Amino acid sequence: MHELDHYIYPHRVLHWLVAAAVLVSLATGLTLGTLGFERTANAFGTAFTNVMYTGHKTLGVTILLLMTLRIITRVAFVVPDHDPPLHPFQRVVSKSVHHLLYIALVLMPLIGWAATATGGYPVEFFSWHLPGLLSENPELSRTLFGWHAWLGWAILVLVTLHVLGALFHWRIKRDSVIKRMSLFD
Ligand code: HEM
Ligand code: HEM
Repeated sequence: MHELDHYIYPHRVLHWLVAAAVLVSLATGLTLGTLGFERTANAFGTAFTNVMYTGHKTLGVTILLLMTLRIITRVAFVVPDHDPPLHPFQRVVSKSVHHLLYIALVLMPLIGWAATATGGYPVEFFSWHLPGLLSENPELSRTLFGWHAWLGWAILVLVTLHVLGALFHWRIKRDSVIKRMSLFD
């Protein structure tokens, strides 16, 4: 198939890396946010809970880096036309969901970073501690973690809509939309 039937290869690789990282971030984040440290530690053990916190923050910062690369590969290279063209309604809905996902996936790690730093916790990236950049402010941290939780649910809704849309094109309309992002054909 001609290259212009697809997003460029690096953009497709970034799509699937971000997709996997977002699903794991949502799963670990929702577990930690719902149970809190104590109950997560009772359920899974303290060592594993600490790994979940470090892993969640590391993945979150990684998503921020990958999204930066992704925005570059999105704006710097041609996006393939839809063939056949999408119905105008589908085009508006899918574009809106894509744009909202981009905005949410940049804001989410920044809010998580700021909430963590203002709470006086380390901003961990693997075994490094990144600069918090903001001074301790427990009240601000609580507000930011509130936004982090709210945006987490919003991302879950957007991803669900997006995946339902992709499945609709792939299994029901059987058009070429899924191929645009496929790594294999
Ligand atoms: C796109 C990236 C991210 C996603 C999708 C994500 C998702 C989530 C979600 C859904 C929660 C649960 C919130 C709740 O119910 O209270 C959460 C909690 C948390 N997130 Fe993130 N997060 C991301 C990035 C980050 C980053 C970069 C950091 C810090 C450097 C971070 C630190 C935390 C912490 C410490 C919690 C636990 C809060 C608590 O115990 O109440 N997150 N995250
Ligand atoms: C957390 C998971 C996911 C996120 C955050 C996500 C995000 C995105 C975004 C923002 C786009 C717009 C294209 C661009 O990058 O500019 C896109 C395109 C696409 N995604 Fe996903 N995606 C996820 C999971 C999936 C899954 C599971 C599938 C397949 C079942 C899928 C299939 C597609 C397809 C086919 C396109 C191309 C649509 C088009 O351009 O018309 N995505 N994705």
